[in-house]
Amino acid sequence: MIELKQITKQYPGQAMPAVEQLSLSIPEGEICVLVGPSGCGKSTILRMINRMIEPTSGTVSIKGKDASGTDPDQLRMGIGYVIQQIGLLPHRTIAENIAIVPRLYKWPKEKIAQRVDELIVMMGLDLEKTRGKYPSQLSGGQMQRVGVARAMAVDPPIMLMDEPFGAVDPIARTHLQDELLRLQKEIKKTIVFVTHDINEAIKMGDNIAIFEAGKLVQFGTPEEILTNPTNAFVENFIGHDRVVKKLSLYCAAEAMQPVGCLVSETGLPSARQKMMDAETEVAFFLNAEGKPTGYFTLAEFEECEGDLKCLRKKVLRTEGAFVQTTTPLPDALSLLLEFDSDYLGILKGKEICGMLSFKDIRRHVYRKEGE
Ligand SMILES: Nc1ncnc2c1ncn2[C@@H]1O[C@H](COP(=O)(O)OP(=O)(O)OP(=O)(O)O)[C@@H](O)[C@H]1O
Ligand SMILES: [Mg+2]
Repeated sequence: MIELKQITKQYPGQAMPAVEQLSLSIPEGEICVLVGPSGCGKSTILRMINRMIEPTSGTVSIKGKDASGTDPDQLRMGIGYVIQQIGLLPHRTIAENIAIVPRLYKWPKEKIAQRVDELIVMMGLDLEKTRGKYPSQLSGGQMQRVGVARAMAVDPPIMLMDEPFGAVDPIARTHLQDELLRLQKEIKKTIVFVTHDINEAIKMGDNIAIFEAGKLVQFGTPEEILTNPTNAFVENFIGHDRVVKKLSLYCAAEAMQPVGCLVSETGLPSARQKMMDAETEVAFFLNAEGKPTGYFTLAEFEECEGDLKCLRKKVLRTEGAFVQTTTPLPDALSLLLEFDSDYLGILKGKEICGMLSFKDIRRHVYRKEGE
């Protein structure tokens, strides 16, 4: 979709090129994250894609067409741009800010108004409360939403997003990231997303390009990069918790094992035999409605000497030890640590479909390291 070939950008008066001999293919309908320390050339690359600036040498082509041969206005019609400092016009209302590009393209008034409203709602903002406000009356997170809405106004197939969630607190940022990922499943834009935060890169990117001082040092999926950092710079950039970061790529369902065995109230007295037959050391307890409410281990069964009251207490202790199949492994691991328990029950909706132990997580990671 976007193809950069041997791109170099030398700003006048600078000792070193801001971008050097960069070749990069950005696939259609995916999020490609450009990540690296401040000054490594990320914003420069975005600006060369939409021809705000021209490369010193090399070519940018979009959908197989050399961008330098396309009229810049025409080119930008197909490229939404969320700039680094949001850049809303302070004396224009939110609606007017979002309408800037559609107005440039002389859309009819009604069509613009309709699109603006649609985008405000799509970005999760309150339509009536937001439309007539000025940027200074919004929070940082709300402004970032407006910045994204403005870039999407004419529904361009390509979006360039320069640290779009940089100016908000971590909770709002997580929220905005989740929403963009959810939205992207529907809109399937080709997104070039800039950040200097490796965690954000891992979360958002189908692919990640890591830069050091204008040079591309590694390009790959988050899994590839976390598994095989190409050099010491990438290793350092990822951090010492590389394997823990890698956990975030997987969900509970990928690492779980089948449930040991299930017992109901009436089956409690014979639970030991059932566990022996199933060759398992853990039994999940189903209440009268068939809902899993906790578990006990063989050792606990023996400790209770089959006493039902004692067993119920053990079950009660683990009543929160359940996660959904889609729960990311770091959250599951955190719960295992929090509960001081050896297992979590894995639920698909309300049904139990597996269980997860520290060992399962370790085995999964080990397998993924070896692939
Ligand atoms: N207009 C300009 N004229 C001269 N030098 C520039 C210009 N714009 C950027 N640079 C230089 O080019 C290099 C790359 O800048 P760029 O803004 O692309 O970095 P960045 O990776 O986006 O950084 P940040 O994470 O801080 O936003 C820097 O050394 C910067 O000082
Ligand atoms: Mg920048």
